[in-house]
Amino acid sequence: MNIKIFHSEKMENLSYLLIDEKKDAVIIDPSWSYESIEKEIYKSNLSLKSVLLTHGHYDHSDGAAFFEKKGAPIYIGDQDIFLLNNPIKNPLPLKDGQKLFLLEKEILCLHTPGHSPGSFCFLCQNNLFTGDTIFPGYCGRVDLPGSNPKEMRESLIKIAKLDEGIKIYSGHSYNGGESTIKKEKESNPCFVNLDNEEDFFNVII
Ligand SMILES: [Fe+2]
Repeated sequence: MNIKIFHSEKMENLSYLLIDEKKDAVIIDPSWSYESIEKEIYKSNLSLKSVLLTHGHYDHSDGAAFFEKKGAPIYIGDQDIFLLNNPIKNPLPLKDGQKLFLLEKEILCLHTPGHSPGSFCFLCQNNLFTGDTIFPGYCGRVDLPGSNPKEMRESLIKIAKLDEGIKIYSGHSYNGGESTIKKEKESNPCFVNLDNEEDFFNVII
């Protein structure tokens, strides 16, 4: 599977285009890169199967309605629908543990609330797309409407149980935007302090 990364200068958002051998493609978090993504789909003659949203904040989701108009189904955690700035007509609700068979390799959807109530991470092969749940060196903000520090801790505990070799692709290019679960467990204060709730609450943003 090929992963194309689109960087938006505005708020340093990262969008991802997952492409398999058959040229089927899935977009994660189109935000403001939707025109560049559309150009790539056209240029490489890709078949867009779906758009997945890690959460409803506008800097991740604003481009989704554009692709819905072109016929792509849009998946989002239903607890985040209230956050959408650019509404989706027929959002498809994600479920924790759901497997999506859109590409040759399945995509596992993990509900990871904390930054927002309907945040999801998407695992495809060895690649975890974390949105605003994890960045290299820290985790997402938990002071926004619908945020919940306790839920963030539970979500990170869940992610810490995954294979340490898994690569992380986050929703912004902060600190480079990419890491591994192993690296984060070793050096990210949010992971290092997971065992003790009080310590964890002292280090999260
Ligand atoms: Fe966010």
